[in-house]
Amino acid sequence: ADGSVEIPVVVNVVYNTTAENVSDARIAEQIAILNQDYSATNTDISKIPGEFQGVSSGDIKVKFRLVNTIRKKTTTKSWRTNDAMKKASSGGIDATSPTNYLNMWVVGKMTSQGQTILGYATFPESAGLWNDGVVIAAPFFGKTGASSPFNLGRTATHEVGHYLNLRHIWGDANCGNDLVDDTPTQTTANYGKPTYPLYNTCTGVQRSVMFMNYMDYVDDAAMFMFSAGQKTRIQSVVASSGARAGL
Ligand code: ARG
Ligand code: ZN
Ligand code: CA
Repeated sequence: ADGSVEIPVVVNVVYNTTAENVSDARIAEQIAILNQDYSATNTDISKIPGEFQGVSSGDIKVKFRLVNTIRKKTTTKSWRTNDAMKKASSGGIDATSPTNYLNMWVVGKMTSQGQTILGYATFPESAGLWNDGVVIAAPFFGKTGASSPFNLGRTATHEVGHYLNLRHIWGDANCGNDLVDDTPTQTTANYGKPTYPLYNTCTGVQRSVMFMNYMDYVDDAAMFMFSAGQKTRIQSVVASSGARAGL
């Protein structure tokens, strides 16, 4: 009625230990967090600095609804970002109709070149393919019992951002381009809990970077907004002519 697109979500839990078998309550909590963050009804929205309030996304008008949870015990203790969790033949769970459902996989642990990976996602270019969707490591999924400082469910907010066509805010390059006009160009990724204002060295940029954007790499407690330009990108991809119109 309010013009929102409702995205049906299938959560695929691939676990080895019982702790990795995240509860239904934790899944519901994660979906609720997505709904808050994507409608700008998150409780920390009031922290947006004055200079960015005018370009805050407001309600992105994309809602998430859990339609199924599929669970599978596996002998795999640690995963890589190679999509093995998305195939029954490699110990994972096959996606449910990825054209029509946002598939989320929760795995116990993920690494890449020895580093812990919180999550990863496919962009709309992969819409409907067998590997289309979002993967989150269990310690960073939901809130209750999750692992600080990534324990506010915002790894999913960030990964679903990629799934809905958002780039990293620094454009994955030194002073790179995220294809969004209202996010200031920034030198590189930010980590931890930066103090506002935070200036950088990109030519012609004389204002703080928007490190509190969900598409930066700061701690969960330090990110609390999308921009209006990011909302426009998301709306185009879920529109009837967009790559994710099937959702
Ligand atoms: N490293 C991941 C990615 O690039 C996720 C980062 C999530 N950050 C967070 N504060 N939860 O997709
Ligand atoms: Zn990312
Ligand atoms: Ca930008």
